[in-house]
Amino acid sequence: MIVHIKKLVKITNKFALGAFNTYNLEYTKGIVAGAVKQKFPLIIQVSEHCLSYAGLEEIVGIIKTVIQKQAKGIPLTFHLDHGKDFSLIKKAINLGFPSVMIDGSSLPFAQNVALTKKVVRYAHSKNVWVQGEIGGILSGRLGVISNVQREKLMTNPNQAKEFVEKTGVDTLAVAIGNVHGAYKLFYKVPRLNISLLKEIQQKVKIPLVLHGGSGINKKDIREAIANGIKIININSDLRMVFSNALRKSLRDNPREIDPRLILQPAIKALEKKVEEKIKLFRDI
Ligand code: G3H
Ligand code: ZN
Repeated sequence: MIVHIKKLVKITNKFALGAFNTYNLEYTKGIVAGAVKQKFPLIIQVSEHCLSYAGLEEIVGIIKTVIQKQAKGIPLTFHLDHGKDFSLIKKAINLGFPSVMIDGSSLPFAQNVALTKKVVRYAHSKNVWVQGEIGGILSGRLGVISNVQREKLMTNPNQAKEFVEKTGVDTLAVAIGNVHGAYKLFYKVPRLNISLLKEIQQKVKIPLVLHGGSGINKKDIREAIANGIKIININSDLRMVFSNALRKSLRDNPREIDPRLILQPAIKALEKKVEEKIKLFRDI
């Protein structure tokens, strides 16, 4: 069943919710199946890039229908990830997203505050939660992010406090050494800055979000959850298992032409990976 994100994100409990990026029906079915198997909530999210591929109304229809039909007893919610365009964010809110992100992290601080405040004003008038971002979470497709780059962009705790007070956001994406992208699955990535997270949590009393959740060291994940991280975003891990399972399915069955049979193993692979993440984020 679909619930408002505020019913799921409680800053008291010692666990974090997985937020999993979807792109289509098969992805959505696999993610929801993982939640049903584990009987545990999660967030299904779509980025602006996904919307240009799948279509806003189309993917929202898929998410809502799959949750209502496949996960009757499990409280799930959905979220707009990395929203940048105010008019698109408004459309998403009007289509029923319980939560949206306005990612103004690449803007100067004052402009990030102004844009985020504008989204919060509209979203809160519709009882929708807003996630903001302060500090830069880099993306590297297959390049490696330099340590200097990462250090420079980490969230400043005092600035985070000021940002939350000025904007009224409900959750905050922080940069504590986390970066986006699949290259983390191939290269050794530096550890998260947990002492910085502790400083941020001292000053910011709202749920914190860890982007770039794929490929992070399990010990860091557990430490992050113990120190204020309540939502962990996963995209690349799902892309990896889905695409690997699909390639294997086609390689092992070169004569198969039925898409239902070709795609089934990839849906199953998503289900298993989501279950694995739920257990990692829940049983710290
Ligand atoms: O917004 C989505 C996540 O931050 C994705 O990060 O691909 O490194 O898991 P990831
Ligand atoms: Zn992200």
